[in-house]
Amino acid sequence: HSYKYRMLEGLVVPPYVTPARLNLSRTIATQPADVCHCSFPKSGSTWLANILYLVLHDGHEPGQGAPLRSHLHWMESAWTYPRTREQVDALPSPRIFKSHMPHHMALAGGPRQSPCRFIYIARNPKDVCVSYYHFESGSAWSGGYDGTWEHWLRLFMDGRVQRGDWLDHVLSWWEVRGEENMLFLRYEDLKRDFRGQLARIAAHVGVQLSPKAVDRVVAASSFSHMRAAPFSNHKHIADFQGFFRKGEVGSWRDRFTVAQTDAFDRLYTERMADSGLTFTFE
Ligand code: A3P
Repeated sequence: HSYKYRMLEGLVVPPYVTPARLNLSRTIATQPADVCHCSFPKSGSTWLANILYLVLHDGHEPGQGAPLRSHLHWMESAWTYPRTREQVDALPSPRIFKSHMPHHMALAGGPRQSPCRFIYIARNPKDVCVSYYHFESGSAWSGGYDGTWEHWLRLFMDGRVQRGDWLDHVLSWWEVRGEENMLFLRYEDLKRDFRGQLARIAAHVGVQLSPKAVDRVVAASSFSHMRAAPFSNHKHIADFQGFFRKGEVGSWRDRFTVAQTDAFDRLYTERMADSGLTFTFE
């Protein structure tokens, strides 16, 4: 099979994550008004980015269909703006940053070293693995994976997909969840109790939303709205729909065989056991 990647400090990353960009991302000057949302890929980062933008703009999407990416600053990616320290410094506040790095490679040193507010979103790993398989199989511009599902699952369990080992990633952020500038969210909680999680997000970024603004955020963050909206649907990446596939909890059942489930559960249970972190799989 083929699968494009680069090794950076022992971590498997997409080719567009360059050493220079990672260095810039780690060393930018951040402020308390900044927000950085972090996640392992396919864990709901586009959803969270959309929510954050809306929360910081009283529930209003930008006019003229300006795409979400122009409001998010993805320092790690060599494709995206801003490219220099001066450009980062000149961005209007509040700045929204995005990162897919494990904690030890986090933006501006992560919540222990930066005054920026961090939000990590985690999703149950079986759904992440399936979502990621579809995503990388459909994206020539990212991994361009062309192998089987079975082999993909092996790569995922061995920590050889882009951004490395899911368990290491999530547990590294779980460890710092108690920092005052840190909020830890789960995708399944957003699905189950959107308004409750929205209140946590708004409080974390210091915004008080009116009931009408809350309703606007709810409407503009639904799967169907986001999938259709030019603001969030990433139409710039050809007609690729990998960011909006099903948006459900439990779609791993379409792919995992009974034997694969057993093997996965053994690894997962063993490594998660002492963490106190649990997920809903259905
Ligand atoms: P599926 O492939 O399981 O459908 P990311 O943005 O981190 O790449 O994550 C993509 C996953 O989030 C996809 O999962 C996508 O469908 C889901 N998603 C995107 N927007 C969503 C929304 N508004 N509500 C629920 N799920 C959403």
